[in-house]
Amino acid sequence: MELKDTIIKRRSIRKLKKSDIVNKEMIEEILRTAMYVPSAFNMQSYRIVVLDEKGHNDLWDIVEEMLIDKMGKEKYIDRGTGEKIAGFKGGNGTLLIYEDEKVLEEKGEKFKSYKALVPSWSYQGSGILQYAIWLQLVEIGLSASLQHYNPMIDERVKERFEIDDNWSLISQIPFGLSDEELEPREFLPFDKIVRFE
Ligand SMILES: Cc1cc2nc3c(=O)[nH]c(=O)nc-3n(C[C@H](O)[C@H](O)[C@H](O)COP(=O)(O)O)c2cc1C
Repeated sequence: MELKDTIIKRRSIRKLKKSDIVNKEMIEEILRTAMYVPSAFNMQSYRIVVLDEKGHNDLWDIVEEMLIDKMGKEKYIDRGTGEKIAGFKGGNGTLLIYEDEKVLEEKGEKFKSYKALVPSWSYQGSGILQYAIWLQLVEIGLSASLQHYNPMIDERVKERFEIDDNWSLISQIPFGLSDEELEPREFLPFDKIVRFE
């Protein structure tokens, strides 16, 4: 697929099923390629934990448990939250996207005049990384979405997956085969966003 087609094809797919073709090597190749993304000061503050099978199921069990605790079982079911979480769990795996706060601290100390901007740049770098991963998943026929059950799940996930104390959870990317058809997306008029001078 050409880059342009992949960009246009990518959607947030929240209802996933398992693909038989996914294996560890494919995900590793995607992540190795994603390492070529730019980052401010080349700081590469992003960190990734790949969850498959057991880890993936455990993550979405944690999310489910915590949401039921927070909302109550009735609302969890009635509002369709349970179905949504099942949609993520139906996939092959989840990528946990972290940033290493220690890297940010070090860069802030080294480049003092930019210190206040370092967290924002780290986030921007992470966004670029996440998009590079997402596009590659689409390129091999998979689908994904970007989820944010942090900070609610941070402590439980940290404990379950023995996450470094300096790592801060940014997002969760469940991936697999699409099990839904989406309506076309709405776009703002191009000239409201872009101006040529
Ligand atoms: C920074 C960012 C945060 C997002 N957070 C969530 C999220 O927490 N949950 C979710 O379901 N979608 C999330 N999305 C997906 C957007 O809702 C989605 O990209 C947008 O509605 C356009 O739809 P599309 O991705 O299908 O093109 C997020 C997207 C971005 C870029």
